[in-house]
Amino acid sequence: MGLREAQTGFVVLVLPQSCAAYKLICYYTSWSQYREGDGSCFPDAIDPFLCTHIYSFANISNNAIDTWEWNDVTLYDTLNTLKNRNPSLKTLLSVGGWNFGSQRFSKIASNTWSRRTFIKSVPPFLWTHGFDGLDLAWLNPGRRDKQHLTTLVKEMEAEFAREAQAGAEQLLLSAAVSAGKIAIDRGYDIAQISRHLHFISLLTYDFHGAWRQTIAHHSPLFRGQEDTSSDRFSNADYAVSYVLRLGAQANKLVMGIPTFGRSFTLASSKTDVGAPTSGPGIPGRFTKETLAYYEICDFLRGATVHRLLGQQVPYAIKGNQWVGYDDQESIENKVRYLRNRQLAGTMVWALDLDDFQGTFCGQNLHFPLTSAIKDALAEV
Ligand SMILES: *[C@@H]1O[C@H](CO)[C@@H](O)[C@H](O)[C@H]1NC(C)=O
Repeated sequence: MGLREAQTGFVVLVLPQSCAAYKLICYYTSWSQYREGDGSCFPDAIDPFLCTHIYSFANISNNAIDTWEWNDVTLYDTLNTLKNRNPSLKTLLSVGGWNFGSQRFSKIASNTWSRRTFIKSVPPFLWTHGFDGLDLAWLNPGRRDKQHLTTLVKEMEAEFAREAQAGAEQLLLSAAVSAGKIAIDRGYDIAQISRHLHFISLLTYDFHGAWRQTIAHHSPLFRGQEDTSSDRFSNADYAVSYVLRLGAQANKLVMGIPTFGRSFTLASSKTDVGAPTSGPGIPGRFTKETLAYYEICDFLRGATVHRLLGQQVPYAIKGNQWVGYDDQESIENKVRYLRNRQLAGTMVWALDLDDFQGTFCGQNLHFPLTSAIKDALAEV
């Protein structure tokens, strides 16, 4: 499952408060610094007015929150100096993610003593490095973790409230939640955690990948005609509706939009959804994984672009390569959707996968997709 498995490092979430109506939460991943040449991304590339909140990754060691990369202290500092230019920008440290794994969280959260140690370690660490809050990215918690995750969220919130009562600035607390129905049912008490969090980011992408042997888009807005049995859950609309039904508060719910695509190698001349694949697509030149939007812009030269009308997302074909991704048009549809559902805003995974250089996608525009989200959120 490419993208996530290769991730190590820290992720930053940036939330600007200026467009007070909607949140635009952006993850920045610290491992993007290691990509070659034009793919290498440092926090100083980030436009401080683009997002409302920026998230970045941290580790946990000896039950205490800790840095991830060797140079995180410098990166945290660079990131947080963005707030000198935009004082309403909020930064959060995200802990967890796919690399971190569920088991380590499980161990910490299930034991009263280690949970306490972890919670106590968080506020001083955030203050030391200039962050405004914490994002818990405990992905795919197991059946037995459900209650422990809720307890962790409740106790973390109580700790932040205690610190605020003692005169410190209120720290923000959010969580990233898998969007697959099976993962939600298994590991998240949505109603409970929603009560205790400032917001929830729903990871409404990665619904489909090379682990299935057929073609489909990884982040459709709506169900496709071919989607039967459990595939009918594999779209943003289903996930959003489902967590709302489970008791998430709409004004805390943030819908994820990917700035990456998932590609496949076609096994035959069939190219429609449901067609057979012979495996994942050719990895990106910079990401070495499925494709960043800036790599897709390269791919699009000489490719044919199609749209899945019902699902409202594009895909492109070149030779035996098929890639499903998001573009300005699908983003406008997604933002219109989440505004209709009166959600809190959007989350972007990730800034460093957008055309942050502004040189790949030919519009001479930095962050074209994230900017499209910002514009669509700001429309009146
Ligand atoms: C995160 O912490 C664990 C436990 O201390 C450690 O084994 C691991 O190497 C750390 N990861 C990174 C990327 O520093």
